[in-house]
Amino acid sequence: MDRGEILRFFIESRETTLEPSNNAFQEPQMKTLLQIRSSMFSAGGQSSQLAQQFVDGWRAANPDGQVITRDIGAQPVPHLTAERFQAFLAQPETRTPEQQAVAAYSDALIDELRQADEIVLGLPMYNFGVPSTLKAYFDHIARSGVTFKYTEKGPQGLITGKKAYVFAARDEIDLALARRDDRSDALGECGCGSHGGLLDSQAAAARGCVRRPIH
Ligand SMILES: Cc1cc2nc3c(=O)[nH]c(=O)nc-3n(C[C@H](O)[C@H](O)[C@H](O)COP(=O)(O)O)c2cc1C
Repeated sequence: MDRGEILRFFIESRETTLEPSNNAFQEPQMKTLLQIRSSMFSAGGQSSQLAQQFVDGWRAANPDGQVITRDIGAQPVPHLTAERFQAFLAQPETRTPEQQAVAAYSDALIDELRQADEIVLGLPMYNFGVPSTLKAYFDHIARSGVTFKYTEKGPQGLITGKKAYVFAARDEIDLALARRDDRSDALGECGCGSHGGLLDSQAAAARGCVRRPIH
């Protein structure tokens, strides 16, 4: 402990003896990482493996941290339908049991986002776009009045202060997307930057991944 730290300890001890939350020696808060896999090959996908390297490094740097894994390749998010959307819009006290289940599912996805300090997304390209289940995921977390709101200046994200890392994998067959840089295609296509910038994101991309044989 250097002189400055000793001095700060005494000053803060005098001022805040009954306030442990202000204690200079309080344990750092446990960090949470949300790992989202969207490859149809689940953990075996190239994007999942790239992201996993990040997760392994994160675990080493945050031994007390928790990692929440949301594998939407293994457990796809259903497409948004009129019924599901109505469930989001309905007032909680008027929801039918079916609507409650739909809203609870969406709430659980949103809670994971809220819990996370950082988010890592494995992002494959399938047929010139993001996996459809990832789009469905974004359709289930983009809820007006919950995760974003409309303002005079356009939509504004309500879940802020998160850092997102995107690990994108694809062949070189990217046509229109080839005209964009890796960051914008990953973010623009997956929707991280939508609804007023929900996430502060960084992206890494893997090009030329070997296409798996499809039988
Ligand atoms: C059904 C399917 C469609 C694909 N479409 C494209 C494509 O349009 N452009 C491209 O560059 N790569 C395409 N690829 C290659 C994948 O992007 C590449 O294999 C990548 O590694 C997939 O990520 P994953 O291994 O994490 O699932 C496609 C692969 C599959 C299986």
